[in-house]
Amino acid sequence: MYKIKLVLLIMVLALFNSCQTTQKEEHSTDLNLVPYPTKVYEQKGEFQLAATTTIVAKEELSKSVATLLQDLLQTSTGFEIAIVDKGNSNSISLETVKGMEDEAYTLSVKSDKVVIKASSASGLFYGVQTFRQLLPAEIESKTTVQQDWKVACVEIEDEPRYSYRGMHLDVARHFFPVDFVKKYIDMLALHKMNRFHWHLTEDQGWRIEIKKYPKLQEIAAYRDETLIGHYSDQPHKFDGQRYGGYYTQEEIKEVVAYAQARFITIIPEIEMPGHSLAVLAAYPELACTDGPFKVATKWGIFEEVFCPKEETFEFLENVLLEVFELFPSEYIHIGGDESPKAAWKASQFCQDLIAKENLKDEHGLQSYFITRMEKFINSKGRKIIGWDEILEGGLAPNATVMSWRGTEGGIAAARQGHDVIMTPNSHCYLDHYQSSSADEPLAIGGFLPLEKVYSYEPTPTDSLTEEQQKHILGAQGNVWTEYMKTSAHVEYMAFPRALALAEVNWSPKSARNYENFLKRLSNHFKRLDIMDVNYAKHIFDVSGKLGRNDKDALIVELKTLSPKGEVRYTINGETPTMEAPIYENAVELGEGNEVQAVVFEDGKPISNVLAIPFKKHKAVIRTIKVATAPHPSYCEGGSDALVNGVLGSNNKFGDGQWLGWEGEDIEAILDLGAFTEIKEITLRFFNSPGQWIYLPKGIRIEFSEDNENFVPITEFRDITATKEKVLDVTLGLATSVQYIKVIVENFGTIPEGAQGAGYEAWLFLDEIIVE
Ligand code: ACM
Repeated sequence: MYKIKLVLLIMVLALFNSCQTTQKEEHSTDLNLVPYPTKVYEQKGEFQLAATTTIVAKEELSKSVATLLQDLLQTSTGFEIAIVDKGNSNSISLETVKGMEDEAYTLSVKSDKVVIKASSASGLFYGVQTFRQLLPAEIESKTTVQQDWKVACVEIEDEPRYSYRGMHLDVARHFFPVDFVKKYIDMLALHKMNRFHWHLTEDQGWRIEIKKYPKLQEIAAYRDETLIGHYSDQPHKFDGQRYGGYYTQEEIKEVVAYAQARFITIIPEIEMPGHSLAVLAAYPELACTDGPFKVATKWGIFEEVFCPKEETFEFLENVLLEVFELFPSEYIHIGGDESPKAAWKASQFCQDLIAKENLKDEHGLQSYFITRMEKFINSKGRKIIGWDEILEGGLAPNATVMSWRGTEGGIAAARQGHDVIMTPNSHCYLDHYQSSSADEPLAIGGFLPLEKVYSYEPTPTDSLTEEQQKHILGAQGNVWTEYMKTSAHVEYMAFPRALALAEVNWSPKSARNYENFLKRLSNHFKRLDIMDVNYAKHIFDVSGKLGRNDKDALIVELKTLSPKGEVRYTINGETPTMEAPIYENAVELGEGNEVQAVVFEDGKPISNVLAIPFKKHKAVIRTIKVATAPHPSYCEGGSDALVNGVLGSNNKFGDGQWLGWEGEDIEAILDLGAFTEIKEITLRFFNSPGQWIYLPKGIRIEFSEDNENFVPITEFRDITATKEKVLDVTLGLATSVQYIKVIVENFGTIPEGAQGAGYEAWLFLDEIIVE
């Protein structure tokens, strides 16, 4: 008897000791956690989740978090896991303590128990999300699975970097069912995001039931048909199918409660004064002109907007009174973006109002509109967020600015002492293309690969003082759905890029490392597979870069960040098979070669096919200096991309090859390395006025012998309007030259009546081909 007891005691001690390293292990970056926590100390030993495991939740604060954990664990393990006040030796304990930052938590996994501590319920919830990600991915299963439910011992101390960690979803261009919105919220919660910006109203549909205004449901929620293909495809074609829907107030309450339980605040967006055509179709008396209006059937910006009449304010206030009842969020988003001024300019009522209120112009009227709405919203104890156009004409006194056209709006607002959410289209627009693959599904444009999202730094430390930096509350990813008809497509565009942003928002800057993120992500995908998320798999892709070797011959270097498999390639334009060579070193290229590459794992391709349409010419990989840098949204490859020998896509500018300038001219100096016989120079331009991209007004070429004194050689001003999406402009110049200056004049301001009227035109240049 004594002997058995002694053996048992030794066993228990051994078990206990297995996790009791007095010395903490090195800070680790190896666990498959997204976002990565602030401090992670791996320990020896394992916690075993078992049928006897209990969840200890004594305080009221921890009870709802405990219930969510219980649900998660029971569904997949099949164990009956009780929530108790006092734990046994195999428990998961949720403890509230004083003095920790809001949302911060500690997680201790020892072989006999798991303890999560926080001062807030949200902190406990985030501790639970980390514990959840440490469990085998099968814990996400909606049916019982047989599995060894072990978690390696670890000590974690964690807190978020930013207080606002957001994702947006446009449910107006396309409408998504409640179940999908909940799934989206689940994904945000799992990755510790805490704001869901629900974009509920648009020109193409109104999606929230407002009881006082039944025509919003009957008329504004439906459009007659929808544009087929891309907006820039001419002529426009339509599907002839009525489309629409809206969330009932009961459904909205259900989603709000669902999000609240997961510590996500839903910020509703009710657009004003622009993007309001659907409302005007239902209530034309709110416009400046007589109508009738139709709910928009294509994308873009529409000139009919809310007229700042008393009845418009009354309508919007009544709508908001119902919105306040449904959404407890302190913030209400009032839009404010892309509101053309033409209707206000032409309206005698608006001109009289401008005079009466002593406003400068229509921008002043927009500021009047927003400030008046803000006063009402503030009087009900809420605050407004608006897109950065609300800065124009003067910012409403208490507004928070969502900086989307870049970061300048955010910087200006922070300097004026306003809070800011950073969501620049250069890094946070998840509706942009994420890969240069020709197989990508149709998207609005842009080019935003995962790595660029991951590289985002929300706080512009160079432009703001430390005090001003405190106004940067965090970043948000936006998912505009013009080109996303299905929930699966939304998932493809949003994930994993939203997870990169989750890490930007949560993890300390010092803990961010892209290669490490990819390694974690490739394992994390198993969890997303079980959750049936249709995420994009570009992390397994190959990229290629042309260069020159020491013999001045052109070479291609291939690279994959895929943690798995090997790269196989061809240079004869054929798709690589398992017989193709494995890439090891840079490959020399000759005339007419076309590189293709694929990552293979276990004999199967796991990546898209990389195909580099390569054009050999005399400027390839020569030195080029561009006086004005391309816009941060379209600068992949930098100015070198203009002479990289790779031609951009013929039908999309968001392929990583095209460079874009917004409202600016291009001045580039090309050094051919030595005096070189040339016959002609060809410039490739993108042309898509519907997307605000215009051909240039003029092109000038100058030559120099010394890179200092340039002589004008030719000028070309007559770039006729053409329907071609890509225009090659060739200038014949038979001569010998070393330095070539190319000056391309931007089109300028977009004319009245065109998409983007009043904004600066974009200029897109792909390659300067010298032959
Ligand atoms: C926006 O993308 N129009 C805010």
